[in-house]
Amino acid sequence: MAIKTVGVIGCGLMGGGITQVSAQAGFTTLVVEANDQLLEAGLGRLRQTLSGLVEKGKLEAKEKDAVLARIVGTTKLEELKACDIVVEAITENQPLKNETFATLDRICPPHTLLASNTSSCNVTAMAAATKRPGHVLGLHFFNPVPLMKLVEVVRTILTDDATVTEATEWVRAVGKVPVQTKDATAFIVNRLLVPYLLEAIRVYESGLASLEDIDQAMKLGCGYPMGPFTLLDLVGLDTTMYVAEVMFEEFREPRYAPPPLLKRMVMAGRLGRKTGRGFYTYAK
Ligand code: CAA
Ligand code: NAD
Repeated sequence: MAIKTVGVIGCGLMGGGITQVSAQAGFTTLVVEANDQLLEAGLGRLRQTLSGLVEKGKLEAKEKDAVLARIVGTTKLEELKACDIVVEAITENQPLKNETFATLDRICPPHTLLASNTSSCNVTAMAAATKRPGHVLGLHFFNPVPLMKLVEVVRTILTDDATVTEATEWVRAVGKVPVQTKDATAFIVNRLLVPYLLEAIRVYESGLASLEDIDQAMKLGCGYPMGPFTLLDLVGLDTTMYVAEVMFEEFREPRYAPPPLLKRMVMAGRLGRKTGRGFYTYAK
C-alpha cells in the first residue's frame, strides 16, 4: 500500500492509542506533542501499556522493542514532512484544528493525506484551511483505541474518492473496521451517544438515583459494557463538554446543551480518569 510512514499529532488518550495501533501494525509512526514534558508523559504511557501486554503474555518482549523502535516522538511539527498520512488528535477546538491543518499543508508533501480524529468539529473547515481539500478527511477512532474496532471514515464534499480509498485501506491495515459517514456534526456514534450521556447527568442532577445505581442499571438492564458515568470518566469530561457545545451550537436543540454539573466539573478540573477524578475517583 502507498502509506508507509504515519504521523500523529497529540499523544493524549486518543493520539497515544492511534500511535500504538499504527506502530503495532508495522508502520513507522511519528508522534508530535506540544512540549517535551507532555511528549515524555505520552511516550511513558505507551511504554507502560506495551510492558503490561508483555507481562500478560499478549506480546513478545522482542515485539515490544520492535514496536517502540517504530515510534518516533518529537515536538517539531516540521518532522511530519516524512509522512504519507497524518492523523490529528489534539484538543477538540475548531480554530486550533484549522490552524494545525493550515500548518500541516505547508509542511507536508502534496501526496500526504491529512486526517482529523475529531469527535464533532467541522472537517470541511479544516479542509478549507488547506490548499489540498481533496486530501483531507476525518478518521474517527474510539476510546480506548487498541480495544475498540470501529473507525468512522468521514468524507466532506471536498474529499477525493482516492483519499477515502487509501485512508480506508490504512484503517483496515491497523486492524480496524471502517464505516463511512458524511461530515455532519458528531457523525454517527456521537450523534446517538452524546445525548444519552448528557441525559444521564441530568437524571443524576435531578436526584433520581445515585451514580452507582444509574451505572449499574444501564449495565445490567441494557447489557452496556459500562454505565454512563464510567464512560464519561473514560472519554474525559472536557472532551464531552466541547463536543456537546459544538452540537448545541450546530443544532440549537436543548438536548445537546452541556448540563450545569458537567460545566462545573470541568471548571473544577475533574476531567475523569485522566486527572484521577471525575464522577469517580481513580487510584494513581
Ligand atoms: N492494547 C492492547 N490490548 C489491551 C490494551 C491496549 N492498550 N489495554 C487492554 N488491553 C487488553 C487487556 O490486556 C485485556 O486482555 P485480557 O482480557 O486477555 O486480559 C483486554 O484488552 C480487555 O481489557 P479489560 O479487561 O480492561 O477490558 P474490559 O473487558 O473491561 O473492556 C472496554 C473494556 C473494551 C473499554 C469495555 O468496557 C467497553 O467497551 N466500554 C465502552 C467503551 C466505549 O463505549 N467507548 C466509546 C467511547 S465514545 C468515543 O470514543 C467517541 C468520542 O468521540 C468521544
Ligand atoms: P487529550 O486531552 O487526552 O489529548 C490531546 C493531546 O493533544 C494533549 O496531550 C495535548 O498536549 C496535545 N496537543 C494539544 N495541542 C497540541 C498541538 N498544537 N500540537 C501537539 N499536541 C497538542 O484528548 P483526547 O481525548 O485524546 O482527544 C483528542 C481528540 O480526539 C479530540 O479531537 C477529541 O474530540 C477526539 N476524540 C476523543 C475521544 C475520547 O473518548 N476522549 C474519542 C474519539 C475522538
